[in-house]
Amino acid sequence: MILILLGAPGAGKGTQAQRLMNEHGLVQLSTGDMLREAVANKTEYGIKAKAAMDAGELVTDEIVVNIIADRIGHDDCKNGFILDGFPRNVPQAEALDAMLSEKGLKLDHVVLMTVDEEELTKRIIGRFTCSSCNEGYHDEFKRPAVDNVCDKCGGTDFTRRKDDNIETVQARFETYRSQTEPLLPYYESKGVLSKVNGMSAIEEVAGEIKAVLGV
Ligand code: AP5
Ligand code: MG
Repeated sequence: MILILLGAPGAGKGTQAQRLMNEHGLVQLSTGDMLREAVANKTEYGIKAKAAMDAGELVTDEIVVNIIADRIGHDDCKNGFILDGFPRNVPQAEALDAMLSEKGLKLDHVVLMTVDEEELTKRIIGRFTCSSCNEGYHDEFKRPAVDNVCDKCGGTDFTRRKDDNIETVQARFETYRSQTEPLLPYYESKGVLSKVNGMSAIEEVAGEIKAVLGV
């Protein structure tokens, strides 16, 4: 199955992709996570991407399209994958269509999670992640069972993203509205777009997504 999770910053794309990965063995391809790794490792792409990411703007299409084109060729993507954070504008969506048709693959579902901006801001400001396994948490909505110990891997070191601050969040919302929202009519016209209420609790959103996917 090939699935795109679409939604504004903080909508829950990463959270739901990780659940689908853990429960259904689908591979999560998060361009945000891949770019953050490239920035941390100071690779050529990372050095080029850093300023745009810190400002809440999009990294160039060339970089992210190359990253995804390379990644979907790996063996673990043979049975399908979840795209989290890609595509983010119409040219990226067109590049994805070309990649898939070249490989004889088909996009099965695009799931949009809708959440209002007040809630998105709360989610982003309270978010933190396990430094070892990247499991996502939240100060209020998803605390580890034991404080400061990761539920998944037992790690005790957690990080917060540099772009998770109130100024950058506003720029990320603006980028989403102007560049990513045009993907909604794009995928609606292809008959693959489904909408779920991303305002519900994590479990309920997961249930709605599973109903759409039929898993
Ligand atoms: P990216 O990493 O993709 O960030 P984003 O789109 O801003 O989305 P987030 O990761 O912030 O949110 P999410 O939807 O994954 O929410 P999460 O599940 O963590 O991109 C970062 C940057 O990289 C971009 O700004 C850009 O510069 C660059 N980039 C990436 N891809 C690119 C591309 N294709 N082209 C160009 N540039 C690109 O949830 C948030 C919090 O809420 C968590 O703490 C979670 O526990 C909690 N939560 C989740 N669901 C719920 C719920 N239902 N109820 C309560 N809490 C919840
Ligand atoms: Mg994410």
